[in-house]
Amino acid sequence: MYVCNCNGVKRREVEEAIAAGAEEPEAVLGHFGLEPCCGRCLPEIAEHICLSRRACALEASLVAAE
Ligand code: FES
Repeated sequence: MYVCNCNGVKRREVEEAIAAGAEEPEAVLGHFGLEPCCGRCLPEIAEHICLSRRACALEASLVAAE
């Protein structure tokens, strides 16, 4: 499933870029040497980044509680 139709970036690739350290939507596209065109995907990419951060924060708090 494509997240960015303009650049043909799939959800799996968005998650790969986030795991590699991309912290902004533009950086996710930049991870693949791409740039936003219409920008419609940026809110969805931002949501993936936010969810990833929350998952990381939750995981860190669970590890700290052990
Ligand atoms: S859908 Fe990503 S830039 Fe247009």
